[in-house]
Amino acid sequence: MLESTQTIKEQFSLLLDKAASTAELESLKVEFLGKKGKIAALMNELKALPADRKREAGQVINQTKQLIEQRLHEKTEELAMREEQRLIEAAESYDESLPTELSLGSYHPITLIQREVEQIFASMGFYVEDYDEVVDDYHCFEALNIPKHHPARDMQDTYYLDNGQLLKTHTSAAQNYIMRKYGAPVRAIFPGRCFRNESTDACHENTFFQLEGIMIDRNISISNLIYFMKTMLSEVFRQDITVRLRPGFFPFVEPGFELDIRCTICGGAGCPSCKNSGWLELCPCGMIHPNVLTAGGIDPEEYTGFAFGLGLTRLAMMKYGIKDIRVLNSGNLRALSQFIDA
Ligand code: PHE
Repeated sequence: MLESTQTIKEQFSLLLDKAASTAELESLKVEFLGKKGKIAALMNELKALPADRKREAGQVINQTKQLIEQRLHEKTEELAMREEQRLIEAAESYDESLPTELSLGSYHPITLIQREVEQIFASMGFYVEDYDEVVDDYHCFEALNIPKHHPARDMQDTYYLDNGQLLKTHTSAAQNYIMRKYGAPVRAIFPGRCFRNESTDACHENTFFQLEGIMIDRNISISNLIYFMKTMLSEVFRQDITVRLRPGFFPFVEPGFELDIRCTICGGAGCPSCKNSGWLELCPCGMIHPNVLTAGGIDPEEYTGFAFGLGLTRLAMMKYGIKDIRVLNSGNLRALSQFIDA
């Protein structure tokens, strides 16, 4: 019995010296002092001893137990002290006067171009409006004179939600809302994110940005449309821009056009960017269809107006020379942070 208390003490000493955390101390405590621990086992053996030896052996076991308790306690205190010391040193060595590395964020190219176009239109007296991304069939199609069978309603193109609503496929979805909000006369632009169920490649994205504009008043004509587009684009590209109109079909405009600009890269001589045609297709537009004005509560006998749907994403790509549309939604900060507000 005496011998085993000696071995226990030695074992304990060895383990205690190695212990470097409170968790290790805790398991030592269980191993030696726990209900099924080494001391408890000795106590059990004690029962079998003859009465005259019990007393003495009992004392030895108790002393061993106390010694273990005592040393565990001391080591716990010691570890706590060391930890405190470590924290103090860490705090002291922290130098708040050292400069931290600051990296500034940057604006997304779409944000840059959007702000620029907004400012130009605001200076020409246009309101800048915001509109939902989740819209209903009426606003996206019906109110825009898009009949039920029109391919734009095809499930292929439109993301429908379970509740029957949809993600707006074009910013024209806000036209009716703006007409109802302001009545006539009105001039407003409304940039927004649009969604189409398309497979993506360097030129196509399922998520892209447009900037729509309408101007409604008495005697608005195609020449007003051309003037505003030419002025805005000349500002954006910081050079005199030549535009041309080609016929284009959209159910909500009559007549409808595709507006092209003379290629800003080759000046019209022909280059890979304009596929050697000298022109870049930029912006569908037209005179607002009388049915659309009527749906917006505006009398088409009294008022006329134009509408355009500028491809902001396309414009940003042209202005900043971005070759792959997918970069814009990639979240690739290295690629996106290089565009500064020039
Ligand atoms: N909403 C049309 C589209 O996204 C563009 C457009 C807008 C055409 C306004 C004419 C007038 O394709």
